[in-house]
Amino acid sequence: MNLKGRSFLTLKDYSQEEIEYLLNLAAKLKENKKKGILGQSLKGKNVALIFEKPSTRTRCAFTIGCIDEGGHPEYLGRDDIQLGHKESIEDTARVLGRMFDGIEFRGFAHESAEKLAKYSGVPVWNGLTDSYHPTQILADFLTLKEQFGKLEGLNLVYAGDGRNNMANSLIIGSAKMGINITILSPKTLWPDEQLIALCNEYASKSGGQVKLTDKVADVAGADVIYTDVWCSMGEEDLAAERIKLLSPYQVNEDMLAMTGKSDTIVLHCLPAVKGNEVTYQVFEKFAKVIFDQAENRMHTIKAIMVATLGEE
Ligand code: CP
Ligand code: NVA
Repeated sequence: MNLKGRSFLTLKDYSQEEIEYLLNLAAKLKENKKKGILGQSLKGKNVALIFEKPSTRTRCAFTIGCIDEGGHPEYLGRDDIQLGHKESIEDTARVLGRMFDGIEFRGFAHESAEKLAKYSGVPVWNGLTDSYHPTQILADFLTLKEQFGKLEGLNLVYAGDGRNNMANSLIIGSAKMGINITILSPKTLWPDEQLIALCNEYASKSGGQVKLTDKVADVAGADVIYTDVWCSMGEEDLAAERIKLLSPYQVNEDMLAMTGKSDTIVLHCLPAVKGNEVTYQVFEKFAKVIFDQAENRMHTIKAIMVATLGEE
């Protein structure tokens, strides 16, 4: 599989086979790292890490993933560079493309990631935008493979803000990989209809299903309940309204009991607001797998860089 030179902006651009390849590569890199074996595939490569929004996991995963493979990461925070305020994204992209071999971008408008990719001429990896968070999905799916040994046929319920970056990316990824995904959310927070139509096409090929519901009872049969914060970065002003809207969708013991299964797991992309989208008790009950998921950010992000930029 040759993914050299490709950007990673959303999972829409990657086939089921390509996603599978990235997950297998990540598993291999993880196994190697546990044995103390690191690579040199990014030797001589310089990677820019642009962060308009804060980050713990994504920043650390790109930094360590790059260094583990012999590359050099350079953190460029919101106030460190001219991007978007003193200089257009197009011009910054052309400058960075002359100096760096790859660019990670975390920020607000998804269009900024697209422009960086278009004008830099080097692979651009989306570390989260308002619309999508595709690197997170690879970590989530690696974790599911570790837990269940497969992706196809799993029943995943995402409870919470159904139109945020995580919901969008989970729907795309699940539909591509044959996972049955249910978005459990109040109707006012349901995902964009065009995205659902597109994902229904993916699902018809993979054998998965995409379902939208506002009824908590629809968690019945879930292998996985996934949740995320009720207010994404940049939406902090909406807190009171969201708490009112989303409280019935909190992941708690009552919701878990409604799955009718004893082996359902709970995942969270983190950071978590315990007491809102998930209770403290449920979070702690599933802490082991949730932190496996966080660790897997590093192995999967490393896989993306190695696959798109690395020298074998
Ligand atoms: N899950 C995730 O993207 O975490 P950070 O915001 O800490 O990068
Ligand atoms: N939806 C969250 C995801 C954080 C990883 C946000 O955008 O803040």
